[in-house]
Amino acid sequence: MVDFSGFYKLSISERQKKIKESASLTEEEISVIGDTGALKPEMANRMVENVIGAIHLPLGIATNFRINGKETTIPMALEEPSVIAGACRAAKLTLPEGFKAEADEPVMMGQVQLVDVEDIEQAMKNLAQNKAEILHIANEFMKPHSKWGGRVLDFKVRPFISEKGNMLLVEFDVNVSDAMGANMVNTTLEGIAPTLATLTEGKIRLRIISNLATKRKVRASAIWKKDVLDNETIDGILDGYELARQDIYRCSTHNKGIMNGIDAVALATGNDWRAIEAGAHAFAAIGSYHPLTRYDRTEKGDLHGSIELPLAVATIGGAVNSSPTAKIALKIMGVKTSKELAMAMACVGLANNFAALAALSTTGIQSGHMKLHARNIAVIAGAISPEEIDAVASILVQNKNFGSDHAKTVLEKMRSGK
Ligand code: MEV
Repeated sequence: MVDFSGFYKLSISERQKKIKESASLTEEEISVIGDTGALKPEMANRMVENVIGAIHLPLGIATNFRINGKETTIPMALEEPSVIAGACRAAKLTLPEGFKAEADEPVMMGQVQLVDVEDIEQAMKNLAQNKAEILHIANEFMKPHSKWGGRVLDFKVRPFISEKGNMLLVEFDVNVSDAMGANMVNTTLEGIAPTLATLTEGKIRLRIISNLATKRKVRASAIWKKDVLDNETIDGILDGYELARQDIYRCSTHNKGIMNGIDAVALATGNDWRAIEAGAHAFAAIGSYHPLTRYDRTEKGDLHGSIELPLAVATIGGAVNSSPTAKIALKIMGVKTSKELAMAMACVGLANNFAALAALSTTGIQSGHMKLHARNIAVIAGAISPEEIDAVASILVQNKNFGSDHAKTVLEKMRSGK
């Protein structure tokens, strides 16, 4: 049994040694794990704890996106085949008009929980009477961010009479500018909480941003014309959409396909995809769980698609600053503000959803997936040149046999000219 006590105090190579011992890894396995790529090991070690290496994902480019009249090249990082191709194809079919998009101001909400509030009414009165002073003190904690427009805008108070006693929730709206906002909001909440506790005679509990960023929504839309899509495809997409509206099991997968694209841009640009996921699905569950996109047929018979969701994304701060690849990804996109980034992400989400619905309701998605899968198997079997990879892959598809032994045999036969 390997002793992991004090693991966090070790250097990266000492940690690798311990892991090598505990999991009986080979020298080669350790060097695979330890290859941090463009991310310097010291930087990785500052970003999270107990670092032993890094993982790598493919980074691809989604082309054909024209957003509000501007060409936008979109980097996407993910392991799943067909997502980038689907986005490119769907975006191409919107041209020459492309997508229209708009985003709300970057306002996040943070909550301070006060418990054991004896006199809820008096506490609420005290908070209302001291509103200006509370906002002034809260904004002192926002000073480092004020030069970018960061500011506490307002707060509201909600009482809860619960089985655990009387609680107050004080909810602050904060303009976080081009940051995701969690750090600045949480710092401000922790800073202002003692003032709130004094005014309410309550006890401070949670002080945290909400990931349900309903004040920071983004909307995008596009028209797919009936002369680029046949009537059957439009019908198929509308039928698929209707099913997502009617059935939560389908709706979950419908929304997953949207998040395929959005999360991939989030990963490429160093954004917090867990926060984005939490916000998107909570938003989808307001009322009853619903699709994040909508489709209808226009009077002219074209397909109109749109998307709306909260997107708390950043072009400054956090991993956006520390990840060398994130900075380059943002440069490739040419976006400066969090609103521009959110708009591009919403367009990708809509494009991916369109692509999935178009494929699922007509030919199905497996043939495309299997072609890509076959290329992977060909590479694993040892195929090297693009011609060799394609040739092996097409035989695997033809034989409907994707076993690695089969791929090796096909490759050997091909190389020996049999
Ligand atoms: C797979 O990652 C995504 C899809 O399942 C989305 C959908 O079903 O709409 C294809």
